[in-house]
Formats: sequence, C-alpha cells, structure tokens
Amino acid sequence: MCGIVGYIGTQAASEILIAGLEKLEYRGYDSAGLATIWEGNIHSVRAKGKLYNLREKLAQVEMPSSIGIGHTRWATHGKPEERNAHPHMDHKGRVAVVQNGIVENYRELREELKAKGYEFKSDTDTEVIPHLIADILENKTSEKITFLEAVIKAVNRLEGAFAIAVLCADYPNELIVARQQAPLSIGLGQGEFFCASDTPALVPYTQAVLSLENGEIARLTHLGVEIYTFAGERLHKVPRILNWSPTLVEKHVFKHFMLKEIHEQPGVVRDCLQAYLDAECELESEKISEKSAEKSSEKKTPSPIHLSIPSSWYQDLEQIEILACGTSWHASLVGKYLLEQLAGIPTIVQYASEARYAPTPLRPNTITIGVTQSGETADTLASLAMEQHRRVNARPEYAAKLLGITNRPESSLAQLVPHIIDTRAGIEIGVAATKTFMAQLIAFYLLALDIAWHRQTLPQSRLLEILKDLRQIPAQMEQLLQDQEKHIEELAHDFNETHDFIFLGRGINFPIALEGALKLKEISYIHAEGYPAGEMKHGPIALLDEKVPVVAIAMPGSVYEKVISNAQEAKARDARLIGVMPKEEPEAKETFNDVLGVPCVDEILSPILTVIPLQLLAYHIAARRGLDVDQPRNLAKSVTVE
Ligand code: F6R
Repeated sequence: MCGIVGYIGTQAASEILIAGLEKLEYRGYDSAGLATIWEGNIHSVRAKGKLYNLREKLAQVEMPSSIGIGHTRWATHGKPEERNAHPHMDHKGRVAVVQNGIVENYRELREELKAKGYEFKSDTDTEVIPHLIADILENKTSEKITFLEAVIKAVNRLEGAFAIAVLCADYPNELIVARQQAPLSIGLGQGEFFCASDTPALVPYTQAVLSLENGEIARLTHLGVEIYTFAGERLHKVPRILNWSPTLVEKHVFKHFMLKEIHEQPGVVRDCLQAYLDAECELESEKISEKSAEKSSEKKTPSPIHLSIPSSWYQDLEQIEILACGTSWHASLVGKYLLEQLAGIPTIVQYASEARYAPTPLRPNTITIGVTQSGETADTLASLAMEQHRRVNARPEYAAKLLGITNRPESSLAQLVPHIIDTRAGIEIGVAATKTFMAQLIAFYLLALDIAWHRQTLPQSRLLEILKDLRQIPAQMEQLLQDQEKHIEELAHDFNETHDFIFLGRGINFPIALEGALKLKEISYIHAEGYPAGEMKHGPIALLDEKVPVVAIAMPGSVYEKVISNAQEAKARDARLIGVMPKEEPEAKETFNDVLGVPCVDEILSPILTVIPLQLLAYHIAARRGLDVDQPRNLAKSVTVE
C-alpha cells in the first residue's frame, strides 16, 4: 500500500510527481505529499485526504525544481493526518524520505535517536529514516562518506518490508531509492529518470523500466542510474521494455475504472484463451473424439493447452495447495472445484494470512499456487516463501513446486516463483477487482483441464466440449453486458436505503456468492454476506425479513433444484428474491421478484457469467449512492503490509 514516486530531470518535478501520484492513488489515498530541492533547501508540501487537496495547496506555492519525491498514503502507523503524511524530514530539514512499507524495528531506532536528541514530529515508523540518515551524515567519522553511503548504512539498520526514496539538500542532484520486499521500479527517460511503486506512473514518460530487486539501492542523477546491493556492490542491470500504451490507464468513455474494467472482461477472456489454447483445438476435437470412440490404444495426444508448467509436475501429483487473499481467494475456491472435479486432485485453499501462522502438514508431490492480482500482497508472498523454505531440505518428493497466477508478470510474485501463469488481464486500476478475478478464473479452467488432459481424468470428448464452450464464452459475456446493464442500473435505485444483503450459491457458484457479497460491501458499504445456499437455514435465515434482499445464483445443473428450494425458504420469510439465472427458466418468473439474466451455459462454466451481474449490481448501487467507486474508503489495491 502507499505509492511513492521520484523524479530527476529537466522538467518541473512537482507536475510530474503529482501526475505520477494520480496513477498510484489506487494504492492509498489517506493523505499525500511531495518534496523538492531548490536554492539549497528542501521544500515540502503535504495534505490530508485525497490528492486534490495536495493539488490545491500546490497551486498556492512555487516549486521551481527539477528533482523531487512524492507519496500517497494508506495509513499503517499513525492516523491519516497532515503531520503523519510523507515526506518526513530530519530535525534540520536537510533529508526528506517517502516510504511504502513498514519499518518493524522503528521503536528501537526511535528510542536510540531520541536519546541522541532527535525530535519526532509524527506517529509514523517512517520518520526514523530521515533522522537516521541525517545522523549518519552528521556524525561521519571519515570525510569520505557520501549521501549514497549514508543511505546504504541506514537501510542496513532497517527491518521490515519497505521501499524508500530519499532527497538530501546537500546533494541537490541526487535521488536515492531502495527496495526491500516492497515494489519499486525505475523509469529511464532521455536525460530524465523516474521511480515509482508501480509502472502506471512511469508509462506516460518511458517504456524502459528497471525493476529493483530486494536488497537493491539506486542512485539517480542527471547522468544516469547506478545500482548497488545493500552491501555496496555495484550491479549492472538491463532494463525491460514495456509494450504498454499509456491509454491503458485512462478511463475513456466510462465514468469509473471499475465499469471500464467490467466491460473489458470479454476481451480479457479472449486474450487469455488465445494465449494458451491451441487455435486448432476445435478442428482436432472431432478427430480426437472419433479416436477415443474407437477405443484404440492410441498414443496420448499433446494437450491443446500450453501453460509452460513442467509436465513432470503433473506426474505423481497428489495435492494442490492454493494461497491467496480476498477476491483472489474466491477465484481459488472456484479453482479448487475445477481441480477436484475435473482433474481429480485434492486441493486445499488457504487464506495466505492464516497459512503463514498455521501451515498445513507437509504432503509430498504438491504444487503450491499463489494467486494475486497485484503480485505484491505481503501475506501471499510471505506464505509462498515460507512454503519454499520449509520444503528446501526435504526429501525429493516433498520438493517445492511453486506456481504463480497473476496479471502482473513483472511483480514480486514473479521474482519469487519459478513459473507464472500470466492471466493477460493487464493492469487494473479500480480498487475492487473485477477483470483480474475473471482472468484468474480462466487460468484455473486452463490449469484444471491441462492436468485432466495429462492425467486422463476426463473423457477427451468431454474435455474438448468444455474447451469448445469456453471459446463461446466471450460472446456470451458481451451479450450479457448488453442485455443486463440498463436493467441492473435501474434495479440499483431500489436499494438506496438497504442495509443488508444476502448472497446464496451452491457448488461451483458458492464462491461467486462470496464474491458478490464482497464486491457490494467494499464499494457500497452495505453489509453483505455470502453463504452456501444450503447453509442459510443453519443461522443466517434469522436475519431475513422484507428489508433484506436475497440474491440467489440458480444456474441449471446439478444443484439447480436445491438452490430453488433454498430461495423458496427465503421467500417464505418475506425476503425480496433476486435470481441470477437464465430468464427462460420457468422458476425465473414463478419464484423470483427480479431476475438478472444470464445465458444458459454448461454448469461448469457458469461462474464466468454469473459473477458479471453481481459486479454490475455492486457498481450501480455504489455509483447511485454517489460513492467513490474506484477508491473505496480504507482500501488499497496492493496490500504490501501484513
Ligand atoms: C477485492 C480485492 C481484494 C484483493 C486482495 C488480494 O476487490 O481486490 O480483496 O483481492 O486484497 O489482493 P491480490 O489479489 O493483489 O493479492
């Protein structure tokens, strides 16, 4: 959480920094600030609340400088007040620091620095850093210690996960940045250099990007970028060239990023299928199913799915363990259903934050999957690292096989695990995950079907039928969006005064009920709970009356009748019933007060469609209430603290 930016070049730094912070505001928006150097002094402006407050303050001052650092904050230590906003400075105002992360040993450092007479003005952990650097610079025993050396010394004293950018008034042509388990990238321009917590802040200026790794520190000057380890050894790194268009991070005709991202979903699914699925698969399908029908002792045909996972990982596979948080955890629950029901692999899904402190007993021949849209979630990364660590010295069958599922192939996740399924969803700006969730689902379909193919747990004809239907899905998603958007927008008006919602689903659609509830609560602040439909009578039914709408996902298939019965139970308690189902089903009219229509599909693929009306419902209810849909209160897109 929190976003940091830095700039050194020839343009007005404050303009570039604020534009960069706008692109990072999704990471935190409690307060913001920036600092620049001119005429030998550091000038800092900070403001509580959203970035426009900082913008307003900046309009009153002049900042004629071409070097600076900036920050947008998601409060961890200290309330979201101006005195806790970054940049933080040392007692003489000569060193300014912005940080994303947490300095875990800040209490100890604070006491040490206080004992030396340093005065603290904020409640933050960050403030120890400028004091520490100033102390090292002021108490230099040798004349040779430089700003870079002082920052190197300082970062070696810090414990925790952090990314920092530092200015020093005595070095007006240098910007120092360092990374330890929090993301930080450097952008290389023509005679100008940038740093940012995330690439969207860099792409308007350059496509050449260097991602710092843990334990690396960089010195940015007008002449270039030098990279060192925390031990002070010089490193030579080659930049990556991004092929991102700056328009990716614009809203276009949509009122909010979230709405744009909901509408991008058919394209995301198409791209993902195109990237990993044989184009020839439909043609092959008939040939292969004929062959299977003949029951010949045919050679195993190569899988039509290409995920670049070593096929040796599939042999002897006994268990899959998935680690994730939030919406990614919901996608993982759908993944579990698919991996168990299609590929026959026992699968456990754990909250990464829980798994860290209560890991499951080690099982042999296990693939461990980390699922994260940001690729930066601290708990997910730490639980994966722990899994790797505890399998390091184990017998060969217990060796770690770590896989990541993410749309950010350049993220910390990709640095941690040897294999990634890049879901191709690209960057998501709306804090509430929509298209990235969708892309994670598709990755799980492909993975489960690929394993099923290798292990022959499904008849090939069935497998090819699912793949064929999967190819039809983007068009059905487009149809759904077109048919339902207006209807859902109108329906949303009815819930202006609603305080509670219940979402019900069963089988493969139970995680979608959880996701529908999460989407609604995070952006509309309405209390919502997702339940397996059959569990309602074991408790939550006590909540029901005419004021509590119940959304039931009722897709034809193995649990359809059961869900309808559960919905009837809610109706008998006067609940307003909303069905997520094909409009053509007779129960749509007979049982439900409102229907969010979904095209009829094979039950196994239905979550891809059923989640869309729930995303739209949450969006329109929140937008109707005039809420900040893209930046809901207290949330951040990238949860880089534990
Ligand atoms: C909800 C949402 C969060 C994230 C969670 C994990 O819309 O976005 O619940 O899913 O913070 O984030 P990632 O997927 O980045 O690990």
